[in-house]
Amino acid sequence: MDKSFEIRPATGDDIFAIAGVLVDTWRSTFRGLLTDAFLDGMSREDEAIRLARRMGVPGVYYLVAVEPVRSDIIGFANFGPPRGRVPAHIHELYALYIRSEHQRAGIGAALVRSVAAQCAAQGAKSLFAWVLAGNPNRQFYERLGAKAVGTSGVGVGDRSYEQVAYLWDDIEALAGKNSGPS
Ligand SMILES: CC(C)(COP(=O)(O)OP(=O)(O)OC[C@H]1O[C@@H](n2cnc3c(N)ncnc32)[C@H](O)[C@@H]1OP(=O)(O)O)[C@@H](O)C(=O)NCCC(=O)NCCS
Repeated sequence: MDKSFEIRPATGDDIFAIAGVLVDTWRSTFRGLLTDAFLDGMSREDEAIRLARRMGVPGVYYLVAVEPVRSDIIGFANFGPPRGRVPAHIHELYALYIRSEHQRAGIGAALVRSVAAQCAAQGAKSLFAWVLAGNPNRQFYERLGAKAVGTSGVGVGDRSYEQVAYLWDDIEALAGKNSGPS
């Protein structure tokens, strides 16, 4: 059966394509929420440099969703150990972005489940993500069974925004090994 996308670990050769997904989806998702100056100031080259640095950090992983005919990268997830004062068995989904023309096709859910499976294999019990409070896609996390468990402030450019922590308490269920969230 033909699949509309495949998921695989990212390699160094994917950095520029991932940076393109990041910049384009930030602009299409956060226009009106973040400042135009910040969004217009983003560049694929700067993000590629940041990504190259992050890919070298121990424990930090990237998965990409690939369109199989042209091998285009159409989404990615980035995850690893928790930042801040969070117990080590709760891993963090740092970033999840799907190109706008490929959203609502099951790619985000498939990436999150793959992230959960990989984190569970590394001994994680739970998974969480920080999501901007104004993100129009917050329901995605709720749809996958995550619960909002806290808020904090985050600086983006020269402004501060509220963000919400979404927690999947049972990472095995998220990965689909048990019955899974409804
Ligand atoms: C949010 C995002 C990752 C979701 O990925 P996706 O591939 O579009 O979502 P999926 O098709 O896998 O959706 C899974 C479920 O969530 C639901 N869902 C997805 N986005 C939703 C939204 N904005 N509002 C309500 N429900 C949503 C889907 O309907 C689906 O429900 P179902 O199981 O009943 O069919 C993706 O749309 C995206 O990258 N958006 C822009 C950037 C962004 O907001 N990233 C998150 C930053 S923290």
